[in-house]
Amino acid sequence: MLKNSVTVTSLCLSLLILGGGVLSAAEDSSILGRHSFNEAWKFHNGDVDGAEMASHDDSEWRSLDLPHDWAIEGPFDVKYNARCGGLPFHGTGWYRKTFDVPTASAGKKVLLTFDGAMYNAHVWINGHFLGNRPFGYIEFQYDVSEYVKPGESNVVAVKLAPEDLSSRWYPGAGIYRSVWIDYRNPVHVTHWGTVITTPEVDQDEASVSVSTTLDGVADGNTATVQYTVLNQDGDVVATDKVKSSAAGVTAAKLQVAKPQLWDTEEPNLYTLQTKVFVGDQVTDSVEARFGIRTIEFSKDKGFFLNGTHTRIQGVCLHHDNGPLGAIANRRAIQRKLEIMKAMGVNSVRTSHNPPSNELLELCDEMGILVQVEAFDVWKKPKVENGYNKYFEEWSERDIKDMVRRDRNHPSVFMWSIGNEILEQHSAKDGNRIAKQLNDYVKEIDTTRPTTCGFNWWPMPYKTGMAGQVDIAGMNYKPLSYGDPVNEYLPDTPVVGSETSSCTSSRGVYHLPIEKYQTHPSKQVTSYDIIGPPWAYPPDIEFDALEEHPEVLGEYMWTGFDYLGEPTPYGGKDNSTNGYWNADWPSRSSYFGAVDLCGFPKDRFYLYQSQWTSDPMVHVLPHWNWEGEGHDVIPVFAYTNCDEVELFVNGESQGRKVKGKDLTKLPIKFNNYESDHMLSKYRLSWDVPYQPGSLRVVGYVDGQAVAEKEIQTAGEPAKIELVPDRKTINADGSDLVYVTVKITDAEGNFCPLASNEVHFTVDGPGTIAAVGNGNAATTAPFIADKREAFNGLCMLIIKAGKQPGEIAIQASSEGLAKATTAVNVKKH
Ligand code: GAL
Repeated sequence: MLKNSVTVTSLCLSLLILGGGVLSAAEDSSILGRHSFNEAWKFHNGDVDGAEMASHDDSEWRSLDLPHDWAIEGPFDVKYNARCGGLPFHGTGWYRKTFDVPTASAGKKVLLTFDGAMYNAHVWINGHFLGNRPFGYIEFQYDVSEYVKPGESNVVAVKLAPEDLSSRWYPGAGIYRSVWIDYRNPVHVTHWGTVITTPEVDQDEASVSVSTTLDGVADGNTATVQYTVLNQDGDVVATDKVKSSAAGVTAAKLQVAKPQLWDTEEPNLYTLQTKVFVGDQVTDSVEARFGIRTIEFSKDKGFFLNGTHTRIQGVCLHHDNGPLGAIANRRAIQRKLEIMKAMGVNSVRTSHNPPSNELLELCDEMGILVQVEAFDVWKKPKVENGYNKYFEEWSERDIKDMVRRDRNHPSVFMWSIGNEILEQHSAKDGNRIAKQLNDYVKEIDTTRPTTCGFNWWPMPYKTGMAGQVDIAGMNYKPLSYGDPVNEYLPDTPVVGSETSSCTSSRGVYHLPIEKYQTHPSKQVTSYDIIGPPWAYPPDIEFDALEEHPEVLGEYMWTGFDYLGEPTPYGGKDNSTNGYWNADWPSRSSYFGAVDLCGFPKDRFYLYQSQWTSDPMVHVLPHWNWEGEGHDVIPVFAYTNCDEVELFVNGESQGRKVKGKDLTKLPIKFNNYESDHMLSKYRLSWDVPYQPGSLRVVGYVDGQAVAEKEIQTAGEPAKIELVPDRKTINADGSDLVYVTVKITDAEGNFCPLASNEVHFTVDGPGTIAAVGNGNAATTAPFIADKREAFNGLCMLIIKAGKQPGEIAIQASSEGLAKATTAVNVKKH
């Protein structure tokens, strides 16, 4: 148990079954293994009688490739729930795919795997009902061997039925994650059948425990499994060959000398090859990446990765990818994580559901620790048609499958059994279900601690519910770290599982700086002092964590803006069941440190100043102030340097020392005694406004090491296009994100511009979506035009499958046109 200080070691495998079998028969080897099943589906929005039958005529249905989210296509409408993005995510949708099954598959296992389907999937093959999987965030697999017809055309049909009032945020709708087909020999490694842990790790050696569960062995076959471990250079570093038990299980312990550890700076990965033999025939072959690392959680000292104290600098992230909706696109997720890393993030909480495989694979590769979360509700509903409807029947299976799927990822270091569960209020159910879920997790994985996000105080601590998990997740309770929580949990480590919940709109500044509930503009000021009653500015959490170094760290709410939950607009709080449309068109969150397009808000830099060490300095607000009430402008600087000097039109406004010169912030939130805070994390000056240049210089040891300058902009005159990458892959899913900036004739950024920009895209790519980060607009994401929001909008282009050059043109009435090009290279 992880009470007090316990060391947990784990060598993990990121479960990527890439395997093609190596078989004696040539035609076998061409089909064996895992194949993408994403292409050439048919889709119908709405219910249809008989669509599960193979003979159903779907010729009029829309053709598309997966992953797909039908709801993101819109339109936004006040008749839908702004709490869920104001998009048509509920209703029935059908998907069908007609596909040839190779003759060589006769006698083989044929497996269909869905990485996730939103929501309430019912699946048929050739008219035969395979099963129902309600939970939209879980991976599931069907063995279809008995029902497929080798050498013939086959039809898989999927009916999805996401319900209204089933989520507190935008869930998406459709087969929004990938689908796979596996052809395997009868003797093969089962789904999630490989388990790896490292019971001992030190500098000289790591022991690697591997176990494999095989299918087909019980039929009288005996099998042998050969393990090969390769390092990053492809050198073999360990091998073993073991016989399976009669039940088809093998276990081995391999030794890796001088292991290259996985950590957040150097996420070293290994590859495990598993080959299954019956006699001297290879019947299955799977490959997987893994990492070696140790994790330790101490009540008194915090979290240690490979023995090094590591503060969790975490963000909560929802699964949606902004204008792309819920579609699990690898590049979209990678970019999201890149932006978070640039802010200094070393950990992600997958609030509040199991993430995509892509997210975990990327976190393995990028060195980001992940808290994988199972549920937002148990039995007590937060919304009328939530997962509570399925909890009794499905929660054991869902949470165990979550752990089975993800247990080998080196990035995964904590399991969360729930978020702000309403059973916190019921001593009996709270304790009982928490214990039960905790036990389910431990049945599958004992190498990582469990946690749960508690937002109530002190009920779950008093009743013992919080003590049912290894780490107490405290949502929005910085004032209860230390003695208050230790009184109830003397031995249990604590993490700020959800913190701050500050709200803001990129580029919006309301003066004077004052705390308000809502603003007539349906935007929120970027001075970062506003939030719902339980929220507080980041500075409060920074202070609390400084005072309590034993707290493992924090997961701020949220890294990115997400679709739905437009707090403080449209609804009251989490207990509001119904629609949140009172402030339509506010329809997406304001909580992000970056907006829905990934453009940093000022808060991004506040966290960066706390979480990174490469010298940086940031200045706000913009410098285009005219009109009444704007004679004196509060200027804030965020920095990780010792001091900052502010210049207006070259004239110094004086230096301020970080940590010494404080900034007064008007705040008020639950249980906070004062109506303001003196922040040592922000530097500020009151500056009489004069147009021109605003420049900050950061100093370390008296040396200027960082600077940032903004200029008062003239009238919008030009468009600037900035693609995030100049070369992408011709794989049909890679993306280029083109930042679209409005500038004046001199090229100065226009911080208030709202020009509508029209796009044309020629060559091997298509517009995937557009956006601008405005949380209060009904402009569609799937379009070839977008208004700038405070000077910026975004064009997202998806690669086709042909190499070539994508030519991009942007035009807007009264502005000079802009062009750029992106190279699409052979995949
Ligand atoms: C928390 C909740 C999150 C989100 C957040 C907004 O209470 O766990 O899902 O709703 O509030 O502040």
